[in-house]
Amino acid sequence: MQLRDGIRNFGTVSIVNHWITALLIVAVFAVAILMDELPRGQLRSDMRALHNSLGIILLVLAATGISWRLISGFPEPADNAGPWLRRITRAWHIGLLALIAAMPATGWVAADSGRRAIEFFGLFTMPDIIATNRGLHRAFEEVHVVVSYLLIPLLVVHILAALKHHYFDHDVTLTRMLRVRKA
Ligand code: HEM
Ligand code: HEM
Repeated sequence: MQLRDGIRNFGTVSIVNHWITALLIVAVFAVAILMDELPRGQLRSDMRALHNSLGIILLVLAATGISWRLISGFPEPADNAGPWLRRITRAWHIGLLALIAAMPATGWVAADSGRRAIEFFGLFTMPDIIATNRGLHRAFEEVHVVVSYLLIPLLVVHILAALKHHYFDHDVTLTRMLRVRKA
C-alpha cells in the first residue's frame, strides 16, 4: 500500500483523509441546519452535541491534512493547465484547507466561551480552555457562520471543477483522488 503521495499521485493517507473530511463536512452542515431549525429542547441539545463532536473530528482531520501537505507538498496537477490556472488551483486548495480548519476552530471558541461544556459523543467532556465570556461567544458565533459562508462557494466550485475534469476533460484528476494510481 502506498501511504505517501508521489510526485503525480495521491497516497492512501490523502485519499482517506479527503473523503472522510468530505463526508463529515456534509454531515456537520446538515446537523447545523437542523440544530438551528429545532425549537429549544432535548433534541436541539442532542443535535448541538452531535455537531460539536463531529466538528472536533474534523479539527483533527484538518490538522492531519495540513500537516501532511506541509510534509509532502501537493502532487503535480494531472491536467495540462497553464501556470496561472495552476496557481489558482493551488491557492484554492490552500483556501479549502485553511477554512476546514477555521470552521471547527471558530466553532470551538464560540462553544467554549459559552456557558455549556463541550461533550465528545457523551464519552467525555473537552477541557474548558476559555472562561465564559458572552461578548466573545456572540462574536465567534458570527465569525463561525461567516466562515461557513466563505467555505460553501469554495466547495461548490471545487466539486464542479472535479466533475468537469472527469466528464469534460476526461483526465485522471478525479480518479487519482479515488484510488492510488501508478505514478
Ligand atoms: C466536501 C468537502 C471537500 C473538501 C473539504 C475538499 C478538500 C480538498 C482539498 C484540501 C484538496 C487538496 C488536496 C489535499 O490536500 O488533500 C482536494 C483535492 C481534490 N478534491 Fe476535494 N474536497 C471536498 C469534496 C470533494 C468532492 C465531493 C470531490 C469530487 C466530486 C472532490 C474532488 C477532489 C479532487 C479530484 C482533488 C484532487 C485535485 C488534484 O488533483 O490536485 N473533492 N479536496
Ligand atoms: C467543519 C466543522 C464545522 C462546520 C462546517 C460547522 C458549521 C456550522 C454552521 C453552518 C453553523 C450555523 C448554524 C445556523 O445558524 O444555521 C454552525 C453553528 C454553530 N457551531 Fe459549528 N461547524 C463546525 C464545527 C463546530 C465545532 C467543532 C464546534 C464546537 C466545538 C461548533 C460550534 C457551533 C456553535 C456553538 C454554533 C451555534 C452558532 C449560532 O447559533 O449562531 N461548530 N456551525
